Amino acid sequence: MATQDELKQAVAQAAVDYVAAHVPAGSIVGVGTGSTANFFIDALAKIKDRISATVASSEATKKRLEGHGIKVLDLNEVTSMPVYVDGADEITAKLEMVKGGGGALTREKIVAAVADKFICVCDESKLVGTLGKFPLPVEVIPMARAYVAREIIKLGGQPKLREGFVTDNGNVILDVHGLQIADPAGLETTLNGLVGVVTNGLFACRGADLLLLATPSGVKQMAR
Ligand code: 5RP
Repeated sequence: MATQDELKQAVAQAAVDYVAAHVPAGSIVGVGTGSTANFFIDALAKIKDRISATVASSEATKKRLEGHGIKVLDLNEVTSMPVYVDGADEITAKLEMVKGGGGALTREKIVAAVADKFICVCDESKLVGTLGKFPLPVEVIPMARAYVAREIIKLGGQPKLREGFVTDNGNVILDVHGLQIADPAGLETTLNGLVGVVTNGLFACRGADLLLLATPSGVKQMAR
């Protein structure tokens, strides 16, 4: 029986194989954050001469990429990117996701927005019928924390401040418990409309385009 790390490693390698087969040589690749993304970075290092550079979705990812001698560009220098590869905390068969367990949701959403294709890499424990069991991260400007928490309670969620955590953008995270998210795109839009919210961890308005899902019987592909 494969361990969860072995599954993550297998799906990370499948994503690198995808990049090698489908992405034009010399392209820029967007890179996500988290343990699965870390396995992707380590595997990407083996084909680093095939790509021109990367864009990182967090300071941690930037450091790991540079540690492998992979060039990292500021997103503002980049006009197009064929793919963005990242993990998720939960994903549905419609490829809507909850992300931000690592607190990098805002930069992840920004880098993903520039990419033509979002490739999600997960082990099968992340595939769910309904989003919301994993607490939904919401990045908030610090002075708006209490106001946004009160508004989230009105929406039926139970917000909990992620203690001792500051995002790469200098903000705080409210992890929202107790949600059963029937309309992910609707909730994503509603939460983003609250003053003081920077972004939230629902990736539904722009979900993944391709899911590479690691299972004990191999890596499966699901497309939108
Ligand atoms: C970080 C994220 C990650 O993609 C998500 O938390 C999944 O991480 P892991 O691959 O470690 O399970 O959104 O902000």
